[in-house]
Amino acid sequence: MYHYTDEQLESMKKVEASRDFRRENLHARMTAEEKDAVLAEFHPDYINSAYEDLKVGKNKGGKVLHELAALLQGHSRIKDMKIDLSKIDYDVDVLVIGGGGAGSSAAIEAHERGAKVMIATKLRLGDANTAMAEGGIQAADKPNDSPATHYLDALGGGHFMNKPELLYKLVNEAPEAILWLNNLGVMFDKEEDGTMVTTHGGGTSRKRMHACRDYSGSEIMRTLRDEVFNRGITVVDFTAAIELIKDTDGKIAGAVLMNMETKEILIARAKTVVIATGGAGRLHYQGFPTSNHYGATADGLVLAYRAGAKLLYPETLQYHPTGAAEPTQIYGALVTEKVRSLGAQLVNKDGEAFVYSLETRDVTASSIIRECKERGKGIKTTDGEGVWLDTPLIDIINGEGTIEKRIPAMLRMFGKYGIDIRKEPIIIYPTLHYQNGGIDIGANGMTCIENLYVAGEAVGGIHGTNRLMGNSLLDIIVFGRNAGQQAGEKWKTVELKELTLDHVDAFEKELEEAGISTEVCSPKLLPDYRRKAN
Ligand code: FUM
Repeated sequence: MYHYTDEQLESMKKVEASRDFRRENLHARMTAEEKDAVLAEFHPDYINSAYEDLKVGKNKGGKVLHELAALLQGHSRIKDMKIDLSKIDYDVDVLVIGGGGAGSSAAIEAHERGAKVMIATKLRLGDANTAMAEGGIQAADKPNDSPATHYLDALGGGHFMNKPELLYKLVNEAPEAILWLNNLGVMFDKEEDGTMVTTHGGGTSRKRMHACRDYSGSEIMRTLRDEVFNRGITVVDFTAAIELIKDTDGKIAGAVLMNMETKEILIARAKTVVIATGGAGRLHYQGFPTSNHYGATADGLVLAYRAGAKLLYPETLQYHPTGAAEPTQIYGALVTEKVRSLGAQLVNKDGEAFVYSLETRDVTASSIIRECKERGKGIKTTDGEGVWLDTPLIDIINGEGTIEKRIPAMLRMFGKYGIDIRKEPIIIYPTLHYQNGGIDIGANGMTCIENLYVAGEAVGGIHGTNRLMGNSLLDIIVFGRNAGQQAGEKWKTVELKELTLDHVDAFEKELEEAGISTEVCSPKLLPDYRRKAN
């Protein structure tokens, strides 16, 4: 049994006492006006003091969070180095930067097209946010559903800001993405007759979430990693890209790599490059904990920005409503939305449901913050406060054994600390989960820089300003494959000129002219959790 405080135990009794009533009387959904109001007042994206305007680059004048501004306007890691671009360590057709789901999908498709492919990853293949995804992957492949319905759900969830051509591609290629994964060997949850089991996510009007229990990302990454290795694709691990290289025509032409252990500098020449470096949770924007992988430090955004790419909606972040708030050892860890899909409700310290549990993520997270910060209905925790997620309801609604069968990872994660989520509710609070924005691309996956492609969380615009659950595992597959297919054809026509890093010097000059004086070097590569001296 976990050692709850007396206050927590008192509050838990109220949650138990109101369970039957709440089960029969679901909280009403919010009107559009109510949603706008709670977002404007409580969503962290609306805290102006957390932002600043960029002074240099393609997004000059646009706002980003201070933590990202520092990196985008930081110095290059190679600023004071003499880089010999005539000494080529790797010479490939397609260089993929990043070893998660998007990078692996891109590498597989480019390899399929006969390209000489190399993946460079600062950690190991598969050490990425993909492997940490839990709840599932959306695709409209049931008779009562359609890509058009999926499109409308994601468009509404994204506040109508989604780039139409990207969203169109996402939803239309979703069923094929599921088939592709299934054929590669992903063990999706299926009924006895082989039909895929699907559930709702926040903001979905149809049950289209395909899952592998609550280990969906881990299972998908396992399969993709196997495929990369089976194909014999070159993987250079513990090696980060620290700058992009262009040719004298301004086309992308490779990357400067750095061995993470020895700091040795290596030059990769490539006819096409795919950035698939993932998100930014480890920047801990506004002091939030994160559900993200250790390597999520916005590296791709920095590399692309310095090379002249444009960012789209970099100011919009996703705070997943349910990060673990207790025990402290797992503070910020993801509690999958699937827990709410299966019937768990969000409940305040007085045992009252205060929001419909499957509103879109931004609305749900804001409602939790309001409950704690404005209404004083949060429960005190070791690290701050939170609200209850009434998990025992799941087995009550769906039958005993559902939790064990459908969300075993959650059962295990809390079980380690003496919390049995079948019998007791858990305390949660929003956690930094996803960057909605990123590098601007066209439907062919290319940025405004010739031959530079992007896939996965580093892309901006697919999800507008708020992504729905399960559309990220989907986008890494659809846009990862797309980038690999495009780059896997494009390299055949590319003639590289002389390699250059002049754009890095030009960016340094821009910083100087803008009067930016900074000690920051970027990309960041890894978070720094060392205790600071007082
Ligand atoms: O809640 C979750 O399982 C997260 C899914 C997602 O971000 O797509």
